Amino acid sequence: MAHLNSHYLKLKAGYLFPEINRRVKAFTDANPEAAARLIRCGIGDVTEPLPLAVREAMHKAVDELGTSEHFRGYGPEQGYEFLRKAIAENDYRSRGLDVADDEIFVSDGSKCDCANILDVLGHENRIAVMDPVYPVYVDTNVMAGHTGAASDAGFYEGLVYLPCTAENGFMPDVPTEKVDLVYLCSPNNPTGAVATRERLEKWVAYALANDAILLYDAAYEAYITEPGVPRSIYEIPGARQCAIEFRSFSKNGGFTGVRCAFTVLPKELLCTSADGEKRPLHPLWNRRFSTKFNGVSYVTQRAAEALYSSEGKAEVAALVSHYMGNAKILREAVSGAGLTVFGGVNAPYIWVRGPQGATSWDIFDRVLNEANIVITPGSGFGNAGEGYFRISAFNSRVKAEEAARRFAAMKW
Ligand code: MLT
Repeated sequence: MAHLNSHYLKLKAGYLFPEINRRVKAFTDANPEAAARLIRCGIGDVTEPLPLAVREAMHKAVDELGTSEHFRGYGPEQGYEFLRKAIAENDYRSRGLDVADDEIFVSDGSKCDCANILDVLGHENRIAVMDPVYPVYVDTNVMAGHTGAASDAGFYEGLVYLPCTAENGFMPDVPTEKVDLVYLCSPNNPTGAVATRERLEKWVAYALANDAILLYDAAYEAYITEPGVPRSIYEIPGARQCAIEFRSFSKNGGFTGVRCAFTVLPKELLCTSADGEKRPLHPLWNRRFSTKFNGVSYVTQRAAEALYSSEGKAEVAALVSHYMGNAKILREAVSGAGLTVFGGVNAPYIWVRGPQGATSWDIFDRVLNEANIVITPGSGFGNAGEGYFRISAFNSRVKAEEAARRFAAMKW
């Protein structure tokens, strides 16, 4: 009989968001009248229409494909040159950061990139994650066999957890022990915290001193509103030798359904191979793309390119400002109700400390039952999230305002 990948059997319950959907469905099945009132502030999925610049670019690309002159079949697996160049120019070089076009790898999503990067990294690595953490970093390492079983407390054996608490501003300091891979996410999902330049300088120094790699998830970069907060890890000198950056068009351009993201993998970044030689990771990532991926569709890549046009940039700014307007409304309502809130300033997520003694799932159930609002329980992101919950600001203004009224009306 064939063997399954038994590492999957170590995974705790379901993936967080399907588990939330399951509970919400059970609730709406039992309370059909509440279903119509339901407001979803759980998963961070965009709600507003695609920018006009994007739609026009997509229409044009579709029409091109309808002519024999401009028809295209397979594209370059790593992304069309027009998009790689637009990304490298606009997101990096125009801001004084040294990133070459061929260091950009265009993909169908950051979630996939964060998971796929493990293909080109060894199984021997000691891995550190923030706690609370975007569950994909942990679960994909479990699937790849990089951990032991989960303890009763929910910690996987072999992973190093870096607690993110109100005391450290939800951004961990470098560990005292040596690790090889560190997942950092700023602006952070779920806490909405951002890493300061000083904090990132420490991390880059740590990575260089320990031959470690920083897996830097900047999917929410567009939401940074405070001046001085780094938007890319490459703003920190030395990061090209030790950091891989993950970016996405999901949350800035509203591409959660369209699907397009990219990684930046600098050619200077070296890893040790089995023979003890230090070798660049870039050719391996390139090879992975060529072998396991056929690239993002031409239409989608033209759509992503349009986000860098002047019209596209203005529309992205309007989308971000819309969601951040929601964040402000929700943040003020929950804080006005007497709860302690974090985030929501440089990120579309508000991280709330629940009432004393209540577990995150208790709060989830209460908010669902009393206010008919779906939130995300903090413990779903890890142990350090227990007692907290996350509110997503991705919503229409009408729904965000209504949710704010209901949060304020709850007897916390
Ligand atoms: C979230 O709600 O945390 C996001 O939807 C995660 C994601 O983008 O995959």
